[in-house]
Amino acid sequence: MNRRLLGKVAIVTGAGEGIGAAIAHRLGREGARVVVAEIDPEKGRYREQMLHREGVEAIFIQTDVASEEDVEAMVAEAAERFGGVDILVNNAGVGAPRRHLFDQRLEDWRRVIDVNLTGTWLASKYAGREMAKRGGGAIVNIASTRAFQSEPGTEPYSASKGGIVALTHAMAVTLAPQRIRVNCIAPGWVDTSEWKIPPRRAGLTRLDHLQHPAGRVGRPEDIAALTAFLVSDEASWITGAVIVADGGMTRRMIYLDDEVIADAVATLTGDPGLARLVERILEDPELREKLKGLVGEAS
Ligand SMILES: NC(=O)c1ccc[n+]([C@@H]2O[C@H](COP(=O)([O-])OP(=O)(O)OC[C@H]3O[C@@H](n4cnc5c(N)ncnc54)[C@H](O)[C@@H]3O)[C@@H](O)[C@H]2O)c1
Repeated sequence: MNRRLLGKVAIVTGAGEGIGAAIAHRLGREGARVVVAEIDPEKGRYREQMLHREGVEAIFIQTDVASEEDVEAMVAEAAERFGGVDILVNNAGVGAPRRHLFDQRLEDWRRVIDVNLTGTWLASKYAGREMAKRGGGAIVNIASTRAFQSEPGTEPYSASKGGIVALTHAMAVTLAPQRIRVNCIAPGWVDTSEWKIPPRRAGLTRLDHLQHPAGRVGRPEDIAALTAFLVSDEASWITGAVIVADGGMTRRMIYLDDEVIADAVATLTGDPGLARLVERILEDPELREKLKGLVGEAS
């Protein structure tokens, strides 16, 4: 493994499990000392142990990124124990229950914005000060493709991620004189099952994978590899960028038609004959009416 982060100190928020955990391991393997800034003490301690087991120098500091007090204390402790801070990955994030806009609750909205957006701003403010003392650093913010497209009922999450995209360019410009680069990754669908505590089996269907032009759903390792590149000196000319890492899913034009539905049936059932039959039924209004009659009689 490339040791391009040797001597660097990296804070990863929400590193207990999921994408943040994969990022913590990747940065550690590349030579960084790692601070696991995690709200859940069990997950945080577990991750610290796993990193130690791999020979990574790591500490867990319990932190709610939405709390200014917690973030200030976490950065101070990181700087004290490791001598400074060079890298921050703002990964901690939460969602809200999916509800229609009319039924959304202010407390859910506030928590999502507080953790995802305010947490990113707070950690950047305090860690950025430490980086400035060292003459520079790198911040990576984890947004989402949901900053650019939505399912119904996801306003708090989408707004928080859109905010992170804007915060990225604002901070990139503000922190340029301090030689701190700020970039953003917008992941698409990333299956975190294997990075959960305890690890789980993924349970993805062929259709889940196939709807990605890259042919598969993402893995936390995909995001970790990109993060490691962005915080390394190899990315020294990249700041203020938003990089979509989604296997091409948001680039695919989708027209729902009979053929798409038939392909979905073929993929789900593995039965091309059934798929062609469904396509024939959809294409033929007379056949559809006949079948409706039959279904009506049967029920
Ligand atoms: N998994 C995906 O498909 C996907 C897609 C796009 C973006 N993202 C983003 O990637 C990031 C990680 O997602 P994930 O799927 O790995 O999530 P996850 O739920 O598996 O892990 C999130 C971690 O953050 C911790 N955390 C939660 N609130 C915190 C807080 N206030 N302070 C500190 N730590 C906190 C959790 O305890 C947990 O360990 C999030 O920002 C998420 O929005 C995920």
